[in-house]
Amino acid sequence: MDKKKLIAGNWKMNGGLTANEALMRAILQGIGAPACDVAVCVPAPYLAQVQALTAGSPVALGAQDVSAHAQGAYTGEQSAAMLGDFDVRYAIVGHSERRQYHGESDETVAAKATAALTQGMTPIACVGETLAQREAGETEAVVKRQLAAIIHANGRCISEMVVAYEPVWAIGTGKTATPEQAQAVHAVLRTQLRHAVGARADLVRILYGGSMNAGNAAQLLAQEDIDGGLIGGAALKAADFLQIIAAAH
Ligand code: 13P
Repeated sequence: MDKKKLIAGNWKMNGGLTANEALMRAILQGIGAPACDVAVCVPAPYLAQVQALTAGSPVALGAQDVSAHAQGAYTGEQSAAMLGDFDVRYAIVGHSERRQYHGESDETVAAKATAALTQGMTPIACVGETLAQREAGETEAVVKRQLAAIIHANGRCISEMVVAYEPVWAIGTGKTATPEQAQAVHAVLRTQLRHAVGARADLVRILYGGSMNAGNAAQLLAQEDIDGGLIGGAALKAADFLQIIAAAH
């Protein structure tokens, strides 16, 4: 099924007012009319700044996390409604750095996806195995368990979600999964989605993330079940991010 690819930058905890403005101006200057959807997921303090910079442009705004709760005594968290006030279209949930450093469980991640969907926001739900899990032959079991929790809580809305396969061992390491390795896991995820929601599974964009860059993007994006990329380091350099966008058609 034909669907537009999605290239989403995850800035992680990088940037500042001056750097953000320079980066966004360079991206917007070079982006033209992209064949794919494009988003930048920025640190929460800069949502208003980047909202203003991207207004009326082909670049959508994303957040890197969202609270599972609607409101109340949750110090440090941002609700989906609050993010919505800044025209946030996408919210990453379950990034491996949140799972690893903030102890987020599969159930928490699923609840965050639900919170985003409730506000009409598209969750980008991340799954992925560690190196130890891959070496133990557990890749398939791990990603299926992570996705199952998300499907269980959000099955009805599955076609409004984005899934991202991010092997933990490939994140920020310069070690990309080969296109064949990535495609194999994407096919597993697609099959799992089909079992859950039938043909609507083909509407779900499954992104690859993990050291995707200007040099390897085209080959990864040519795989049948790779519908875009979630880009870390290379999203902080306008020229690299633009090359990845150009490779996504
Ligand atoms: P890198 O592209 O820096 O490996 O990061 C990938 C990632 O974690 C995107 O969410």
